[in-house]
Amino acid sequence: MTDLPTLETYLATHPGSPATAEALLHIGRACVEISRAVQLGAVGDHLGAAGATNVQDEEQKKLDVLADDILGQVLERCASVAGYASEEREHVELTGRSGGVLVLFDPLDGSSNIDVNVSIGTIFSILPAPDNGTPTTESFLRSGRHQLAAGYAVYGPQTVLVITVSAEVAAFTLDAEGVWRLTHERLRVPTETREFAINMSNQRHWAEPVRQYIAECLQGRDGSRGKDFNMRWVGSMVADVHRILMRGGVFLYPWDAREPSRPGKLRLLYEGAPMALLVERAGGAASDGQRPLLDVEPTSLHQRVGVVLGSAAEVSRLAA
Ligand code: AHG
Ligand code: MN
Ligand code: MN
Repeated sequence: MTDLPTLETYLATHPGSPATAEALLHIGRACVEISRAVQLGAVGDHLGAAGATNVQDEEQKKLDVLADDILGQVLERCASVAGYASEEREHVELTGRSGGVLVLFDPLDGSSNIDVNVSIGTIFSILPAPDNGTPTTESFLRSGRHQLAAGYAVYGPQTVLVITVSAEVAAFTLDAEGVWRLTHERLRVPTETREFAINMSNQRHWAEPVRQYIAECLQGRDGSRGKDFNMRWVGSMVADVHRILMRGGVFLYPWDAREPSRPGKLRLLYEGAPMALLVERAGGAASDGQRPLLDVEPTSLHQRVGVVLGSAAEVSRLAA
């Protein structure tokens, strides 16, 4: 198995700027470090609350803070990174360099699953930095179409890094020596599916089209869909999206009426947009409920968005 190509060789042979490749290699190293902490758990004193809240008003876990620190330190040392932004930081960070790329990340996705030993992950998005001069917050506010690359690491039974840097999506599995090995080339999301993922406990808050879509799935072969559906909800977007990339399905975290002015729970720039790029490149689709998620124009760094992504036929059915 050790002759499988590494992340380095893959990046050297796939289109993408040297700055993007350099940033991806650094992010890959940070994810190896985060995965070590995840694996140690209580032995490394990495479980439980950090005792602080972030800009989203969410209670931070120790691993949210540690993963954020690791990524920050690694990106500060990466010569091609002009700045970065994180779920856990109110403002963007500038490295003092210009040109190259900007990185946006959710350092630890699925925080509610940390303490119960269920799969969690890291999500990232790479945007071009302005050619000249210092980036500003506005430099980070680009629609998902502008991404140079995107991906995630999932810390599950295996540690897997999924990236898109060209027209395709590839997955790398961490080997015993801490090297990312190419294990899945050209991932494809099947067009049709019989599996959906949504937090059913929010049902009473959903908009009518979402209620109707899920009701039809639940009717199974007795209803208009004419087939039985299965349901899965890990509660870590990374793990739910990974399942969809591997075997299809549809994932929904739509707008709901709990906070009517809030477009959704998930964040556009470092959760929605990178996952939308991966899923589209793998032949699936992603929508905010009304339009392609990659076309949503951000107006603020921590902006939320409704997310429907996965098998193309299901996403267009719901959007219709
Ligand atoms: P994070 O841990 O980065 O704040 O993200 C959690 C997100 C996402 O991973 C998941 O899909 C969703 O929250 C789960 O929400 P519910 O607890 O409402 O199911
Ligand atoms: Mn998240
Ligand atoms: Mn997070």
